Amino acid sequence: MGDPRLLEVSAEVNPIENSSLESLLQDMWETMTEADGAGLAAPQIGVMQRVVIFGCQTNPRYPDAPPVPETVLINPVITPLNEVQEDGWEGCLSVPGMRGIVPRFRDIRYRGFDQYGNTIDREASGFHARVVQHECDHLDGVLYPFRIKDMRHFGFIDTLAEKGVIELQPCDDEP
Ligand code: NI
Repeated sequence: MGDPRLLEVSAEVNPIENSSLESLLQDMWETMTEADGAGLAAPQIGVMQRVVIFGCQTNPRYPDAPPVPETVLINPVITPLNEVQEDGWEGCLSVPGMRGIVPRFRDIRYRGFDQYGNTIDREASGFHARVVQHECDHLDGVLYPFRIKDMRHFGFIDTLAEKGVIELQPCDDEP
């Protein structure tokens, strides 16, 4: 946070004609895995293209929810399925060491393409929907702190955990 590129709107991508896509995705998966994140957007590694990745086997905050499938999503479009919003803790690799409570649509439909140009068209709820909304926000230059309604629910991970406000979990890095 502080790098002006994180505030930019990223460009649409043609997955078929983009020869650098494969190496971009490799960099992104490596970065996400190294940080134990649940998702990553291309602008976070300085590439201003509408590409996000996400996936997570365990959902500590939603133990009954199915795992988030490992997904490459290009030129995503999100449509909320209803007006319901849910609060949840988020973090971000671009805002290291912090967490905040962010409202997100609970139920969404998201569409886009994978790296081979195949259409992705899914409905998602809860943690899965939160991850997708967080990552796609990066493509429009929006970081999660911008969406925090009550800044009293924003703090350092170590302090929040020490004081028992949050419990540290795997798959907790982003969001
Ligand atoms: Ni993020």
